[in-house]
Amino acid sequence: MLTMSQPAGRHDGPSPGGSSPDVQIQNVTKRFGAVLAVDRMNLAIDRGAFYSFLGPSGCGKTTTLRMIAGFEQPTEGEILLAGQPIAGVPPYRRNVNTVFQHYALFPHMDVAQNVGYGLRQQKVSRAEQVRRVGETLDMVRLTGYERRRTWEMSGGQQQRVALARALVNRPTVLLLDEPLGALDLKLRKEMQLELKALQREVGITFVYVTHDQEEALTMSDVIVVMRDGRIQQQGDPTDLYERPVNRFVADFIGTSNFLPATVLESADADGMTTVRTGPGLTLRGRVTDPGVNAATGDAVTVATRPERLQVHAADRAGAAQAGSSEVTGRVRQGTYLGDTTEYRIETEQAGELIVRHQNAAGAGGALGAGPGDPVVVRWQEAANLILVG
Ligand SMILES: Nc1ncnc2c1ncn2[C@@H]1O[C@H](COP(=O)(O)OP(=O)(O)O)[C@@H](O)[C@H]1O
Ligand SMILES: [Mg+2]
Repeated sequence: MLTMSQPAGRHDGPSPGGSSPDVQIQNVTKRFGAVLAVDRMNLAIDRGAFYSFLGPSGCGKTTTLRMIAGFEQPTEGEILLAGQPIAGVPPYRRNVNTVFQHYALFPHMDVAQNVGYGLRQQKVSRAEQVRRVGETLDMVRLTGYERRRTWEMSGGQQQRVALARALVNRPTVLLLDEPLGALDLKLRKEMQLELKALQREVGITFVYVTHDQEEALTMSDVIVVMRDGRIQQQGDPTDLYERPVNRFVADFIGTSNFLPATVLESADADGMTTVRTGPGLTLRGRVTDPGVNAATGDAVTVATRPERLQVHAADRAGAAQAGSSEVTGRVRQGTYLGDTTEYRIETEQAGELIVRHQNAAGAGGALGAGPGDPVVVRWQEAANLILVG
């Protein structure tokens, strides 16, 4: 296993005892003229973790990264690196490196020269340069490519050179701004797994920007979902998928069915809230946001994930289990996806529902219902995610 030591003499220095978060964003706002790019952001990024900023284009991800790197200054608020405020510290004095999508390798240099660039700037001894370049190329699995010209290499290899160039200075934090955006899907998926493995191996804090929810789910220890310059929710992939705190997060991560509803009874002793949908369907579920309490009469949204719903042909449905919800409808469309079939079902009580049906033999196999056929859709109360806002 490869480990990287703290470099000596960098401005932000090692954190005392190593226990403080690597990056603290404290009440940070960034304005560009009238544009509010980041709005009162508070975030503590733990040492050695893989964080992703996830959100649609324009939500402030890159701006946040650029403030951590020192290319932009906050309009208000403060950023701390390893416990130290860094306002006024220029980018090259911060113990942080950035990998961009357009990483601009130097075309007149070979791989080793590209990777060693930062060490030459720092006047590191020749022997130390060779040793560190070798160690870093080993990390990104490019040993033997030292003398190659970068323009002769594939997109994935070039991306690894860019990574090595950013890692060779041993930053405590590596910032990555949509670094895989230019690669095709298959290569991107490979690189996601490689990046994750690399991060584990070197133990450096990664802060990764992406608008791709699948990418964030694949790689992250913590995903920070952003919208309009504000953090909507942070948590591990399971948290965000299973307990999205609002409709934006539930919609942005995965697919959901949304039912508008009104609270009938606020949470009981088991934490279950009872709601009624427009067409008069009564459902019980949990309010996902621990910070809110839904009161009788409040407008809410019930979200359900398509794979949590079961669909049965009406003539084979049998009886419902106690505690499950049930609606009837007709198949509008079925899309065969190999492992699953995605059905769009028009129901009277809940409008159109998307249901993911497992095609595996053990799960009941073929549904036996096509377009226009009557079906029953059932789900457990645990599948009802009650969203306030
Ligand atoms: N240098 C700039 N000048 C003016 N507006 C900017 C500048 N950089 C970013 N913005 C604006 O700030 C907002 C957030 O941008 P950005 O951080 O790049 O979003 P993201 O990376 O999430 O797509 C957008 O409205 C964008 O147009
Ligand atoms: Mg961006």
